[in-house]
Amino acid sequence: MKFFVDSADVEAIAELNDLGMVDGVTTNPSLILKSGREIIEVTKEICSIVKGPVSAEVVALKAEQMIEEGRKLAEIADNIAIKVPLTWDGLKACKVLTGEGRMVNVTLCFSANQALLAAKAGATFISPFIGRLDDINLDGLDLIADIRTIYDNYGFETEILAASVRAVNHVSEAALIGADIVTAPPAVIRKMAEHPLTEKGLQGFLRDWEKTGQKIL
Ligand code: E4P
Repeated sequence: MKFFVDSADVEAIAELNDLGMVDGVTTNPSLILKSGREIIEVTKEICSIVKGPVSAEVVALKAEQMIEEGRKLAEIADNIAIKVPLTWDGLKACKVLTGEGRMVNVTLCFSANQALLAAKAGATFISPFIGRLDDINLDGLDLIADIRTIYDNYGFETEILAASVRAVNHVSEAALIGADIVTAPPAVIRKMAEHPLTEKGLQGFLRDWEKTGQKIL
């Protein structure tokens, strides 16, 4: 499974990248706002750190303008994936931009039918939002499973990029279902290393080590 970092925080991305945890990055207008940086500048810096796809999102609502914005964002670096919303215009933009050989991430996907349309429009990535479905008492992971089944039934090559990940179980469950990629905030990726029994076991070993009176260094 590939790991993308859902963030525009350059320091956090660089730290995870040094650990080999980063296969790509996803950003969105809210994450750009949170970074406090200018979109082109911060995205260029991220692209210089990470080799894999870096998603940068268009903000136009009409296909023609989305295509123009997408082409401009793609000038930032060769590894830009243009993020377009899952609207009718977004699907039109997806078709044109992938036809030009660019990577396109279709975002804000909340149903299997939307994912089916994105695959038909040639999307490189489809981003179903798990957490936002959970927020309204639906099961975001069910959607990941449905899309996996549909894409496998027909051999669609669009990669399933599980997004809106809020908890560590979203990552493991998406992996079990067979999502190709998960994009998670840095804090969720770090939390995946935690387990109460690891902490308890470590404390026990350290107490016993103290009693031996020995030193390694
Ligand atoms: C995905 O590409 C989005 O940037 C992101 O996962 C949205 O997550 P949120 O629902 O926590 O804002």
